[in-house]
Amino acid sequence: MPDRKPIVGGNWKMNTTAMSAQALAAACVEGSRSLTQGCDVFVSPPSPYLAQVGDATAGSAVELAAQDFYPRLSGAFTGEMGLEMLADLGVQTVLVGHSERRHVLLEPEDLIAVKARAAVEAGLRLVLCIGETLGQREAGETDAVNLRQLSSALGEVDLDDPERLVVAYEPVWAIGTGRTAEPADAEAAHRAIRSALQDRYDERFADSVRIQYGGSVKADNASALISQPNVDGFLVGGASLKADEFLAIIRSAAGGAA
Ligand code: PGA
Repeated sequence: MPDRKPIVGGNWKMNTTAMSAQALAAACVEGSRSLTQGCDVFVSPPSPYLAQVGDATAGSAVELAAQDFYPRLSGAFTGEMGLEMLADLGVQTVLVGHSERRHVLLEPEDLIAVKARAAVEAGLRLVLCIGETLGQREAGETDAVNLRQLSSALGEVDLDDPERLVVAYEPVWAIGTGRTAEPADAEAAHRAIRSALQDRYDERFADSVRIQYGGSVKADNASALISQPNVDGFLVGGASLKADEFLAIIRSAAGGAA
């Protein structure tokens, strides 16, 4: 089996306060110290707290991730955060295509593709989120939706380092609902995604890309999911707001790497 180091990210979404973000970041850094050998870790705070969370993660193995950005260096884009600011803040990783941006903020696929390309060109690690709605799953369209979102977002992306790409498979019906994909269903979706990556790039590249599962991941379902051969970590929402729970998930992933 290819040797992929698991990667677990905490997506804090529009949660925390200045004070709780700092405390959560410090607890994640402290608690993951002995685990980051076996698992890459990133935290993705709301943008107003990137600077202080960056201070807390500086010098540690915990990467700083942004939940969103505008795909330009700087300029007249009211309300947005540009790539120059991300560099200034020490952001190493960005989420693109998250379900809430697609379905709640109605971000179109062509903007997602521009963001994906800009992130890679800026030298950031791209966490590309894809996933089907419940209706699409029930209509048997899971793989078709995933592969369409994948190829639309990566169409213009020139990548030769598989470390710079993480795909997060997050079925929309599992996000924040308490409903998790069955491990076998997650594995089937991940396998189809990996095979599409092989068609888009090549086998060596596809074998090295980490594919995270996301959607109601908790400490008590992480082990069963990570034991699937193509599940290489997690993108965690709600459970990443509790340091103990998030660290337990990281521990499962780090253990699964052995
Ligand atoms: P959840 O969110 O863990 O709260 O379901 C996952 C995500 O949206 O990344």
